[in-house]
Amino acid sequence: MSDAAPPTDAPVAMLDLAGEVADHEAALLDAVTRVLRSGQFVGGPEVDAFEAAVAERLDVPHAVGVNSGTDALRIALEAAGIGPGDEVVTTPFSFIATAEAIARVGATPRFADVDPDTLNLDPTSVAARLTPRTRALLPVHLFGLPADMAALRDLAVAHDLFVLEDAAQAFGAHYPARCARCDGGPRCSAGSRDALAGRAVGALGHAAAFSFYPTKTLGAYGDAGMITTHDDAVADAARRLRVHGSTPTEKYRHEALGHNSRLDALQAAILRTKLAWVDDDRDARRRVAERYRAAFDGADDVTLPPHRPEHAYHQYTIRVPAGRRDAVAAALAAADLASARFYPIPLPDQPALAPYVVDATPPVAAEAATRVLSLPIHPRLGDDDVDRVARTVRTALRS
Ligand SMILES: Cc1ncc(COP(=O)(O)O)c(C=O)c1O
Repeated sequence: MSDAAPPTDAPVAMLDLAGEVADHEAALLDAVTRVLRSGQFVGGPEVDAFEAAVAERLDVPHAVGVNSGTDALRIALEAAGIGPGDEVVTTPFSFIATAEAIARVGATPRFADVDPDTLNLDPTSVAARLTPRTRALLPVHLFGLPADMAALRDLAVAHDLFVLEDAAQAFGAHYPARCARCDGGPRCSAGSRDALAGRAVGALGHAAAFSFYPTKTLGAYGDAGMITTHDDAVADAARRLRVHGSTPTEKYRHEALGHNSRLDALQAAILRTKLAWVDDDRDARRRVAERYRAAFDGADDVTLPPHRPEHAYHQYTIRVPAGRRDAVAAALAAADLASARFYPIPLPDQPALAPYVVDATPPVAAEAATRVLSLPIHPRLGDDDVDRVARTVRTALRS
């Protein structure tokens, strides 16, 4: 962060990817040059090396590179055998890809409500959505904050469910060592919590789907995604499905239809290079979040995201009174300060999902959609810019 920089009124964007490239140009160009000179552009040693690096980092036996986070979700569900007639319980408050993947494999998305503090799946509401047809849980680690995986794991164990993490927004986050709500007290799902304590997001369920879209906490310079899993059969099926269902031991033999969802070598090389600073970037975003916390101190009409040690802050999403959000966003835009609404329409209300939806939007998600406003957060954001953004929000709320 540029603490020493003089105050300016320059535009503030949500992200600064050009700044990242400038700061790490030599390492990135090295990676790109290596791939260009290798002449191997899809799959191959760069993809193998990136997969191995992620598997080691997350402490999972399998990492399978694919084309996008959307494909990672869909292929993971297919690989787990989830399809027509099955129900998958997920969150109504996410990007469309989460529910789209469920619908695309022919299963039915069932929407439980989110927790009012974290905006992640509320396990009590999940329990109420389970039916004899429920086959899987699909929690999202929204905005980089891990979902309540211990409680979800308890439900999954009790009901024999497959757990697929949508970790698209949370590479670099870790599950807390202790329960943030009860600090390990009597309400804690102690067994599951011990099993998950301190583990990386992506290693908390049976499988996980990552997106490496450029804006993500680990972002490629194009589309890319990955499935991580503890399950040998899921990994094997995913490896086949990403290349048209082809049989690894017999070229041009296809026993099942799959997809063209290979990870390309340039993205893999860039991503593996970026692993060197992904934790520093997360820590820098956490410092930005702390600055926002201080800058919003005493602003009673602003709800801040829970500041937990495990939060990777893909987004810094505040909530303001519903009727004021557009005015706040307009005031920010007028001052050349970016903001975004993640997400203005809950998934059950998305027109494209109407044929698949059986649940009305639950109340906490419905309310959140009217109030959320994401503010700029990235490793190069200066304190003065954070202060300007927060000041503009506070002033807009007072006027
Ligand atoms: C929660 C969530 N799931 C899935 C995806 C899909 O990832 P991709 O854009 O790489 O397909 C995204 C991407 O925005 C996301 O935010």
